[in-house]
Amino acid sequence: MPFENETTFVRMQKQGREAEFHERYERALEDVRRYFGKEYPNIVVRDITEERKIKDVSPIDGSEIATFQLASKESVGEALDVLNRNYRSWYWKGYVHRAMTFLRAAEMLSERKFEFAALLTYENGKNRTEAMADVDEGIDFMRYYALNLIENQGFNRFTGRGYDNEESMSYMKPYGVFAVIAPFNFFAITVGMTTGPLITGNAVVLKPSSDIPLASYLFVRLLHEAGVPKEVLAFLSGSGGVVGTALVEDPRIGGLVFTGSKDVGMKLFHKISEKVPKPAITEMGGKDCVVVTNRANLDKAVQGVIRAAFGYAGQKCSAASLVFVQSGVYDRFLDMLVKEASKIKPDDPRKKETFLNPVVNRDAFEKYRNLIPTLQKEGRVLTGARVEERPGFYVHPTIVADLSDDAYTVRNELFLPILGVLKFSTLEEAVRRINSLDYGLTGGIFSEDPEEVRYYFENIDVGVVYANRARGASTGAMVGSQPFVGWKLSGSTGKGTGSYYYLQQFLREQAVTVAH
Ligand code: NAD
Ligand code: ALA
Repeated sequence: MPFENETTFVRMQKQGREAEFHERYERALEDVRRYFGKEYPNIVVRDITEERKIKDVSPIDGSEIATFQLASKESVGEALDVLNRNYRSWYWKGYVHRAMTFLRAAEMLSERKFEFAALLTYENGKNRTEAMADVDEGIDFMRYYALNLIENQGFNRFTGRGYDNEESMSYMKPYGVFAVIAPFNFFAITVGMTTGPLITGNAVVLKPSSDIPLASYLFVRLLHEAGVPKEVLAFLSGSGGVVGTALVEDPRIGGLVFTGSKDVGMKLFHKISEKVPKPAITEMGGKDCVVVTNRANLDKAVQGVIRAAFGYAGQKCSAASLVFVQSGVYDRFLDMLVKEASKIKPDDPRKKETFLNPVVNRDAFEKYRNLIPTLQKEGRVLTGARVEERPGFYVHPTIVADLSDDAYTVRNELFLPILGVLKFSTLEEAVRRINSLDYGLTGGIFSEDPEEVRYYFENIDVGVVYANRARGASTGAMVGSQPFVGWKLSGSTGKGTGSYYYLQQFLREQAVTVAH
């Protein structure tokens, strides 16, 4: 069972099957329209229709894709009741059964990968390579966690004989029901966050992002078909404020796994443990920096920075948001960078050649537009800072140079295709300035000098770092190869997704001793 890691697109390209990839993608773009124009229920064993609704809107043209439910507090209560009653029997089916269920689900998703990827093009606005890589990553999360669980025998261990007449075991047991609150930007994250608690024997209430409810809903249906009992996996779409708050405030919740912005994550992190300590995995924002030194290969650096800053319109938590450039190459690098960025135009992500997709929704579009005066005041705008006046949410890639360290643009996550440029004199200085930021998610360096790379790795305070990655300076972590982990305000636990340590966070130890 191979991992999808290198991505379906790259693999098919290597096999000379690129044309087939595009044909299948285009068929899927037509095929998934059968899901549109319908209303989808919440699921707590039964299908639930709520009084209030939300609309699933496509960033491609602002059109409505489908209608979803806005879950009420009563539905949250019902889910917590049912799931709490049932998670133990799911746990006692054993780790092999649960792992096999997820391996089956991974195969099912793999068979439907074009369908899910095409849906992400409509819902998230992802271009076809980004969308397929996202689905590939989701498949790999399920496979990786299943194998990790089996390899470690569910993390249970014989712990020996304290006294001659005793035998002891350390069992790793579930907490109960996890609230899974997911972001819009990666379907794979929804898949991974749902898989982690479930495969370890917990139950899950999934609250999807309102920007990708359809892909999330179909994924939940797929898991039910694969053999995850409905009694341990509920789907509640709705407002984060209502569903998220109701979940974390409820004493019946066992733990939280959240990925999203820092403000929401920090609020939930505190809230869930107000009365009783509970596990809270909160993966949060980033302000990811790339360093380009005088010893960089500038062609590689330009390619890596462009891909990392503007891939998926800067809406990756790993996106390059700032580039620190050493004074000796500052002007030359900027010229090369701006020349490349100016060639990029936002366009319909269904088109084969589109690199820069629309931003995810009207709020993101308005946020970009409202930021333009700030960018112009704080630095030198070299390209971009303009929107397209047409249906959908299309904005231009923006580069703003000569920013100072205390600028709003430097200190805050923007989550848009906006790249800030800063100048530095020594590598020590660049690392110190980057470490002074609140976030610590990903980063990269371009330098052909191994000593510089070593210094950077030894001293930078971020979770995922790359040297000389032209395919995306700070982006594109692969399941199992690059555990995806945030330090400081980027994450609460210091353990990455797609990492050897991830699953253990959903388990609590029980020491069991029998005396003879
Ligand atoms: P968001 O914080 O707006 O929303 C995330 C989820 O929280 C959504 O499901 C939303 O409905 C819910 N929510 C919103 N307000 C809530 C509230 N008051 N109470 C409870 N739940 C609430 O984030 P987003 O815009 O969906 O995603 C982008 C953010 O996610 C960025 O900050 C990005 O850096 C971060 N992110 C981090 C990682 C990581 O691994 N660290 C990965 C992906 C995304
Ligand atoms: N896996 C995604 C990346 O690293 C989050 O870009």
